[in-house]
Amino acid sequence: MSKTFFITTAIDYTNSPPHIGHAYEKVLADVIARYHRLKGESVFFLTGVDQHGQKVQQSAAKAGVAPAEFVKGLTQQFKDLWKKLDVKYDEWAETISLRHKKVVQGMLQRLFDEGQIYKDKQSGYYSVRQEQFLTDKERGPDGEFGPEWGQVEFREEENYYFKLSRHKEWLLRYLDNHKDAVIPDFRQTELRNAVERIGGDLCISRPKTRLDWGIELPFDKDFVTYVWFDALTNYISFADYDPAASTFNLQPSAFRDRWPALQIIGKDILVPAHGIYWLIMLHAVGFPDEAIPQLLVHGWWNISGTKMSKSLGNVVDPSILADKYSVEAVRYYLMSDIATGRDADFSEERLIERYNADLANNLGNLLNRTLNMAVRYRDGLVKQAGGDSPLAAQVVDLVRSYNAAMTAHEIHAGLEKIGGFVTACNTYIEMAAPWKLAKDPARAEALDHTLFALAESLRVIAILVSPILPKAAHGILYQLNWSNDYALSDAKWGGLPSKHQLGNPVPLFPRIETST
Ligand code: MSP
Repeated sequence: MSKTFFITTAIDYTNSPPHIGHAYEKVLADVIARYHRLKGESVFFLTGVDQHGQKVQQSAAKAGVAPAEFVKGLTQQFKDLWKKLDVKYDEWAETISLRHKKVVQGMLQRLFDEGQIYKDKQSGYYSVRQEQFLTDKERGPDGEFGPEWGQVEFREEENYYFKLSRHKEWLLRYLDNHKDAVIPDFRQTELRNAVERIGGDLCISRPKTRLDWGIELPFDKDFVTYVWFDALTNYISFADYDPAASTFNLQPSAFRDRWPALQIIGKDILVPAHGIYWLIMLHAVGFPDEAIPQLLVHGWWNISGTKMSKSLGNVVDPSILADKYSVEAVRYYLMSDIATGRDADFSEERLIERYNADLANNLGNLLNRTLNMAVRYRDGLVKQAGGDSPLAAQVVDLVRSYNAAMTAHEIHAGLEKIGGFVTACNTYIEMAAPWKLAKDPARAEALDHTLFALAESLRVIAILVSPILPKAAHGILYQLNWSNDYALSDAKWGGLPSKHQLGNPVPLFPRIETST
């Protein structure tokens, strides 16, 4: 049985509505998933929401509703947004589901039975307002805990701990032997340095007296699971993991088939959550090294160099942007204006600028001019004529460099290659000047040759752009009157029959007009 390409994203907290950062990550995963489907691979794309925890409990209390009701509304907002943005996932994770709870509890019970989880007492300064223990890092320059912590008291609390540090040497060796465990490289270095500093074990519980919006520990009903054993486990619970199977090889074949996954996360949750806790959790329950996931760590969208945040009031709502400028405009901007792994600055002006320049002017014009000329000069019937087109050789290079970029998850680079070819096609129109050829009956063959090459180029462009702009690709192929059932292998010269009737031109990317 062939391997499945398993791709996941972080699951989004349902304590506030989705913003452009969430949308970026999901569109990035969707584009990679679509690219692999285009290659003909079997793909399993999992995303979803993170519904438990303190933040949600607090937000629900503030809103005056029960947590279950609170997360229902926000979960729907995330789902609606992914639908609107054409994020096409195969499975949806909700951490309050029974399916998830069974896996979390099964996994915890196993680790507990194996002696990898123990109970211990913690004592220290505790902020009643923030409901957390404080460390020296939280002290101000004067050595005191600032007013933001409210009342601070000395407390003793019992909790459960996972023996994280006993796996430290394994993780160091694993990272040394797998140079591409984390992409980009500099993130792997960052993780390696953090692993060197692992000191203690991981607290995995909260007493119910303090937090009850969570999954109960299977071996102690007075406690719930705290954050990571709940959230991270979604990646296996919604991929058909069987917690009762004692070894990886005894897992259902559908599950084994899916690992290792490609996991897309933001830079803030690499250390310690995914890079340390998650990889160690998988190793601790018996995942062999070959099944440990690869982490693709993306950067953040900022606003004028600063973080987007509710309190600053600068959060960008992707749904509003899509209504205002179109889904394709939002997807194009998010994929073209950031290099995977790096940060970028979000700006609506820039979105408009890139849309107008690259889509309305460059690609939109190429499509419109080609179709209009074909209709005007040939009633839409394009014919193969003359020898090889100079565009044919360019397509070979284009497909090669596009594939290299997409395989490396460098979507912006893939789009740049396509954009370069679109520009070359527009230049080709200027050079060939079909309007002049049309006036000279002796040059009828040259006109056919030109129009056919342009239609063929657009067909290839549509296929290559389809993971990023699925609606636009559909629109181009519809106007070319070419099948919508295609694969990456169709992105080569010679796909159109030697005589082909094109459809009618319809503007695909109307310019965004601004008042200035
Ligand atoms: N629920 C946790 C993740 C648990 S994964 C087992 C979480 N949720 S989150 O809603 O805060 O963030 C979800 C994802 O969105 C993270 O990967 C995070 O890095 C990403 N982003 C949040 N803000 C972002 C930007 N401004 N820009 C890009 N991505 C951002 O963390």
